[in-house]
Amino acid sequence: MIDRDRRERLLTDEVAASFADAPPRLREVMGSLVRHLHAFAGEVRLTEDEWQRGIDFLTRTGHITTDTRQEFILLSDVLGLSMFTMAVNAPEDVNATEPTVFGPFFVDDAPEIALGGDIALGVKGTPCYVSGTVRTTSGAPIPGARLDIWEADADGFYDVQYEGERRAGRGWLTAAPDGSYRFWSVLPSSYPIPHDGPVGELLDAVHRSPMRPAHLHFRVAASGFTTLVTHIFVAGDPYLTSDAVFGVKDSLVVDATEYPAGRAPDGADRDRPYYRMTFDIALAQEIQP
Ligand code: BEZ
Ligand code: FE
Repeated sequence: MIDRDRRERLLTDEVAASFADAPPRLREVMGSLVRHLHAFAGEVRLTEDEWQRGIDFLTRTGHITTDTRQEFILLSDVLGLSMFTMAVNAPEDVNATEPTVFGPFFVDDAPEIALGGDIALGVKGTPCYVSGTVRTTSGAPIPGARLDIWEADADGFYDVQYEGERRAGRGWLTAAPDGSYRFWSVLPSSYPIPHDGPVGELLDAVHRSPMRPAHLHFRVAASGFTTLVTHIFVAGDPYLTSDAVFGVKDSLVVDATEYPAGRAPDGADRDRPYYRMTFDIALAQEIQP
């Protein structure tokens, strides 16, 4: 008779060895996955009932997933795996703007907006003027970067969550030859991630909130540079320390300053108060393979 520890170890080794003929990277990934999965089951002394509940949870996660709802990515987000994978792959240059989670609400067919234009396109919220400059990590302006921006309205909904096909609260624009960019939007609001499915049940079971702090999404691309996916977060938001998907970085928290109605930074006369946020972006050089 062999003891329990040895039996478990032998099984793990046998499964890991079953990948011996796989291509090298797949062998490495699968071998490590199996070792960590087995170590996890051994460490918590996983019961058969818990194993079955895990299988049921993953089955329901699959069933609710569609072309427009990716519950597995949401699961990865709330487990911090999305942010961990971003950290593993982030540019090493410490002067580059930090990336954060992509989220499920980007779409490919956002409208092009003129520099200084309004991405709100009528969504509910207080106007907010956002501006900054896109630079290299050594401070040189990058002309003509493409900025994709998307955000939730004042009620915490993205346009893709509205009835119909309306596009609003999003757009893309091209930075000026001196790297500067500017646009109008609405002041971002905090909102819950989709929590009416298995991931929401999990958050409930562990007494965690589904809320994300108010943020504006950016994707910034320029030839020769690593594409940046990030957010700016609004300073003072009550959820900055409990983001459901662990996306907050101190360097991405920006003051939103309120201004009275009157002459705005772009020279326009605003007939109601507005906010202003400034965010400079540094892109890392693309690494040649
Ligand atoms: C978002 O910020 O849009 C988001 C990110 C992760 C999960 C759900 C939503
Ligand atoms: Fe978001």
